[in-house]
Amino acid sequence: MKVIAFNGSAHKEGNTAILLNLVLDELKAEGIETELYSLAGKPVQGCIACFKCFEKKDQRCAVEKDIINECIRKMVEADGILLGSPTYFADVSASMKALIERCGMVGRANADLYKRKVGAAVVALRRAGGIHVFNSLNYFFSINAMIIPGSSYWNLGIGRAPGEVAGDAEGVQTMKDLGKNMAWLMKKIGKPA
Ligand SMILES: Cc1cc2nc3c(=O)[nH]c(=O)nc-3n(C[C@H](O)[C@H](O)[C@H](O)COP(=O)(O)O)c2cc1C
Repeated sequence: MKVIAFNGSAHKEGNTAILLNLVLDELKAEGIETELYSLAGKPVQGCIACFKCFEKKDQRCAVEKDIINECIRKMVEADGILLGSPTYFADVSASMKALIERCGMVGRANADLYKRKVGAAVVALRRAGGIHVFNSLNYFFSINAMIIPGSSYWNLGIGRAPGEVAGDAEGVQTMKDLGKNMAWLMKKIGKPA
């Protein structure tokens, strides 16, 4: 089994990456293969609403110039998907929004490509707006017929400068508990039918 984690932060190794890695470490400890994919430095554009994905139904986005088709492939091949985003003006980063729009639309155009995979959100924030980011990320999972595990709190970690989130003991524990619950759920479900 495999989990792919997408980091929507502009910092490849910032707070969002730290939080995602805490979840991935728990998954690895349970024997689940993991991959962390950073969107930092990789320009991605939002959905252009051409709806070619509904015409072709080839599991691809018609906009071929960026990394989105690579991301779709990684999602399809994984059994679990983590979406991690920093809080930018009380919402997901623009890169994460582009990923959500395009991977989400191709998923819907192709008979729910990510159906019954396990999905979870991870959010870094400095002060406020993180719960809105958490909700925005969860909308991706629920409209794509995916299954969401819980944790011991909502999946938020508090920190400003890269690295600071490691000092948020409750946030760290929340990520570890999320990783354990995600592994438990994935093993119960097995390979999605
Ligand atoms: C453009 C921008 C907007 C931000 N907006 C918010 C915000 O609305 N609320 C908040 O708590 N933090 C906000 N922050 C702070 C980041 O969410 C916070 O520093 C986070 O830990 C960054 O994670 P990273 O190290 O993975 O990039 C903002 C940061 C940037 C760069």
